[in-house]
This record gives sequence, structure tokens and C-alpha cells, in this order.
Amino acid sequence: MQPDDTKLQFDERGNLRHFLSLKGIGAELLTQLLDDAERYLAAPGSLPIRSQSLAGRTVGNLFFEPSTRTRASFDLAGRRLGADVLNLDVNTSSRKKGESILDTIYTLEAMHVDVMVVRDASDGVPAYIARHVNDHISVLNAGESDVSHPTQGLLDLMTIRQHNDDFGNMTVAIVGDIQHSRVAMSASEALQTMGIGELRLVSPAALAPDADRFPGAHIVDNLADGLKDADVVMALRIQRERIGNLDGVPGINEYFANYGISHDSLVYAKPDAIVMHPGPMNRGIEIEGTLADGPRSVITKQVTNGVAVRMAVLDRIGKMMNAR
Ligand code: CP
Repeated sequence: MQPDDTKLQFDERGNLRHFLSLKGIGAELLTQLLDDAERYLAAPGSLPIRSQSLAGRTVGNLFFEPSTRTRASFDLAGRRLGADVLNLDVNTSSRKKGESILDTIYTLEAMHVDVMVVRDASDGVPAYIARHVNDHISVLNAGESDVSHPTQGLLDLMTIRQHNDDFGNMTVAIVGDIQHSRVAMSASEALQTMGIGELRLVSPAALAPDADRFPGAHIVDNLADGLKDADVVMALRIQRERIGNLDGVPGINEYFANYGISHDSLVYAKPDAIVMHPGPMNRGIEIEGTLADGPRSVITKQVTNGVAVRMAVLDRIGKMMNAR
């Protein structure tokens, strides 16, 4: 994101047009989006809640990196709002023949795709596309390098708020490969906007972030201090695909012993602390499997909330388009 890209997210009336980052999204809009998302949660066993705010529109999912949760939930969210959904299979698309990303975008534009949902391994791609599409098209960031994953940040905020909405008196510990994590970035941005009491980023030195990327957060190098009296503990996967040189990164056993979120390490946190993980999980490395499946885990809730927040964002974009 460049400084002006936060403005790029809103149209001339101040409506959300693109969803590129949580930077520049204030507490009021965050709260509205979470409230909207809550209305898309159906009781277990009942039919999903639907609306028609995207009826007649087409949503294109362009995932230039692997995904299960984000892609599937944008697909379901678009369909449940009445849109046609196009899932471009990047591995068999003409990008493999050297077509540029903009030519891919212009091709989909010519097919009347209205909303482009983009995941890419390079910084700045969603905003770059947003600057080049026609005025009637919206671009949503579904994961950008190690920079931003705004709908993940929203669903994490929603899941935390369901546990405890007193953000100012809350301690959240994010544990793992913070340096390469777009999830940590967006969660941090959302929590700071909501006035989080204390945000701790816990990792071995080799995976610690630059402090200036996380203003206001405390960087901690051990679990005992990092989890002390935490209300929320979020474990992160080691993003091996983004690490050029693994020197200094602990091996699996050492990592789990020192940074794994387990029944044993969770004793440092508050007795009612919840355990989160954005997925995909590596059981036995950053999280103990039985803890991930146990009563303190809200990991499946995060997945359910992911569909709801993506519906909330798409619904807002659809209403903005329908009001034109
Ligand atoms: N949390 C997340 O982005 O998961 P996927 O990579 O499966 O979409």
C-alpha cells in the first residue's frame, strides 16, 4: 500500500469501494462490518442466510497463491448474496503462458466481472489492480504477500469480540512467525484501531518483526512473558514459502518446545483465554492438536465467521454499486 491507497478504498461519497487494507478503516466502520457479519450467522443446522444485494453481479476469485478458507468463503459469500462466482484456476490459466496480471484483469473486465477478489504473493498487487480497473469495478484483497489480509483481520476481530468486547482491557498475544505474517499485520491494525489494551508479538529472534511495522505492540521473545495473563492467544504457522534463508529458525521439536501453543504453555494465559489460529495449521509445530480441537479453541468459529465477514464486505460493495 502506498500512502494514497488508503483513500483509494472509498468512492467520492465516502462509501467503501475497494477493500484493500484495514489501514484507514476506522472503528465505526469496523464495528458496522462486524455487526453486519453477525446478522449473516445462521444457527447450526439451519439453512444459511441469504440476500440479493449482489444479484446480477459477478464476483471473480483470482487466487495467485494457494487457499482453502479464504477462497471457499468468498465463493460461498458471493453465491449467498445472489452473485455469479467465477473461480479462476490460476494453475491452468493463461498467466502460466506469460500473460500479465493486467491483461488477465482486462480479460475478466471484458466478461463483466464486477468484483475482483485477489490473492497474490507480491506487495501492492491488489492496489495496483484497483488503480487500473474501470470505475464500476471493485477489488478486494484476499491476502497480499506479508503485508495485508484485511478480511482475515476482520474475522479475527469478530471472533475476539464474541469472546470479549472490552478491547481496552484486553491482552492479545500473537505467537509465531510474525515477520512474514499478513495475518498478524491485519489483526494488529484492527486491534489497534479498536484501542486494544496490550498487543504482544511473540516469536524467536529469527522470526521477529521490525518494530516499526507494528507501532504500539510489544515484541517478546518467550512464551512465559508473552502469554502472561493473555485473554487471547493466536498461533501462527511458519511461512516457509516466504523465508529465503532458514538459518536461525528453530527446528520443529525445538520450535514446539519453546513456542508451541499447548495445554502446558497455555497455563501462562488467563484461565478463560481463547486459542485462535488462522489456518492452515501445522499440528505439533505451532499448536498442539488436542488443544486445537478442544473447548478453548475458537478455530472453527473463525472459519464460520470468515464467510459472514466476507458476506458483510461484499454486501456493502453490492449496495454501493446498486446505489449508483
Ligand atoms: N487463513 C487463510 O488465509 O487461510 P487460506 O490460506 O486457506 O485461505
